[in-house]
Amino acid sequence: MKKILDIISEEVMGAFEAAGYVGELGRVTLSNRPDLCEYQCNGAMAGAKQYKKAPAVIAQDVAAGLKDSTVFESVDVVNPGFLNLKLSSGFLTDYLEDMAATPKFGLNMPENPKKIIIDYGGPNVAKPLHVGHLRSAIIGESIKRIARYAGHEVIGDIHLGDWGLQMGLIITELQERHPEMVYFDESYGGEYPKEAPFTITELEEIYPTASSKSKEDAAYKEKAMEATYKLQNGVPGYRALWQHILQVSVADLKKNYENLKVDFDLWKGESDVHDLIPEMVERMKKEGHAYLSEGALVVDVKEETDTKEIPPCMILKSDGAALYNTTDLATIMERMDKINPDEIIYVVDKRQGLYFEQVFRCARKTGLVEEKTKLRFLGFGTMNGKDGKPFKTREGGVMRLESLLREINEEMYRKIKEGRAVSEQEARETAQVVALSALKYGDLSNQASKDYIFDIDRFTSSEGDTGPYILYTLVRIKSILHKFQEEGGVLEKIELNTIVNGAEKELMLKLVGFHAMLEAAYEEIAPHKICSYIYDLSDALNHFYHGTKILTEEDEEKKKGWIALLRLTRDILETCIDLLGFSAPERM
Ligand code: ARG
Repeated sequence: MKKILDIISEEVMGAFEAAGYVGELGRVTLSNRPDLCEYQCNGAMAGAKQYKKAPAVIAQDVAAGLKDSTVFESVDVVNPGFLNLKLSSGFLTDYLEDMAATPKFGLNMPENPKKIIIDYGGPNVAKPLHVGHLRSAIIGESIKRIARYAGHEVIGDIHLGDWGLQMGLIITELQERHPEMVYFDESYGGEYPKEAPFTITELEEIYPTASSKSKEDAAYKEKAMEATYKLQNGVPGYRALWQHILQVSVADLKKNYENLKVDFDLWKGESDVHDLIPEMVERMKKEGHAYLSEGALVVDVKEETDTKEIPPCMILKSDGAALYNTTDLATIMERMDKINPDEIIYVVDKRQGLYFEQVFRCARKTGLVEEKTKLRFLGFGTMNGKDGKPFKTREGGVMRLESLLREINEEMYRKIKEGRAVSEQEARETAQVVALSALKYGDLSNQASKDYIFDIDRFTSSEGDTGPYILYTLVRIKSILHKFQEEGGVLEKIELNTIVNGAEKELMLKLVGFHAMLEAAYEEIAPHKICSYIYDLSDALNHFYHGTKILTEEDEEKKKGWIALLRLTRDILETCIDLLGFSAPERM
């Protein structure tokens, strides 16, 4: 479907042309003064100089031409030459009925869908998920859903950190504790056990222990580095242990992400491209991009226009070891080769911005990525506590994702119990659904690049710009629709009332903005646009609801028109929250 603003603009542009002015002047925008009008056109002011006429004269000419337009109920000229526009009920309801009858409410699908890889999540194997990984998961999941809804082919890749020193550390600590394990017997030639010799709980204890030991004990660290080296060079016992670590850790990660309603198409990791590194390095050397500098292999990535120093991209350390960016570059190479995407979007902490700038430049310069492929970095800010500092546990430690989820669930549960008499089980289930909305909406309603304050009280409140408020609104609609049905009401198709004004019209005007909002959310990779849209939509719905006795209305046709409007609002709200990655309960 055409976007409503485009239809209205065309109508006004036509009137500009008919009156002898250039059509382009007739572009319409949303009103700056919703108290005066719904849409406005400022073209008469823009044209005044060119036509050497007072803006009001031009505006009058245009308004006269729109007198019989079926699109507008009124076209007012306001000094110095604004055109204030109000839509006619008939045009508005026809448009909404079309929306209701068309898949995706009539959102236009792209002629050439793009293939987009989204690299998000980025957890590190064997390390517990902490709140830093939460934002990547929440934002990445939402932009994946938005791009898919907008008609593109989207592949979400978790890009596990599964290959670095942390693996060597765990292996070293295991060896300290159990030197007798078959994995450490280098003369062993048989099969290794299928079961891992540790649980996730042990694993999560082993890593921090090993990590702090290595900081104090140089020999220990040396051992860990050697273990990493052996692992990466394929020593069978080490590879077998690593497989166990991966298996136990990934099972745990899957459970955690499932609780967050976050789902990846690919569970690839840094280790997957290990074998591609030599080939990539060869290519970079042969084409003269990579050179030795103080023993390390580097590629220059600075550009003349740089205003700040962009250091070279290090490909191999002087001992020949690969680095974080080596795996990222090799991953780009593999993605181009196997998937050939039009776009790769990285959803990573904004503090890695310079790093990604180097990686992107290096990938372009060395031809790993084709011209047509866009590399985009969506850097997100930090989630802070109420003190404005990075979010910590009460004891001051790094907050684990599980603990954070538990806290917000408990708070939601408490609020639900407080609100009404409800069974234990229902309260628990509802709390889980609503808490997820509180957490995700609290995050997504901010522009991703900004830091924000995690405020459990505010996030779980059913009033204000929060997830629970949106869900309350949705549940309210659902309950009216239920009652309508219980009272024998049937609604075959969406037929709206033909004469609308006041709060009913306000609500409709919000609904017709769906397409423009969604296109902007997709193009600007900006889920917060969906949040602010549904917040406004919920306000409009509640305003309408409070001023209208819907179910007791005696005029059956009128009532059906309202019910139809509620249904459409529900469908749009449900679609939007699904794009944000949460859902609504039946009752609250
Ligand atoms: N594992 C990394 C970390 O915890 C994040 C990975 C981000 N993605 C990437 N392609 N580098 O910091």
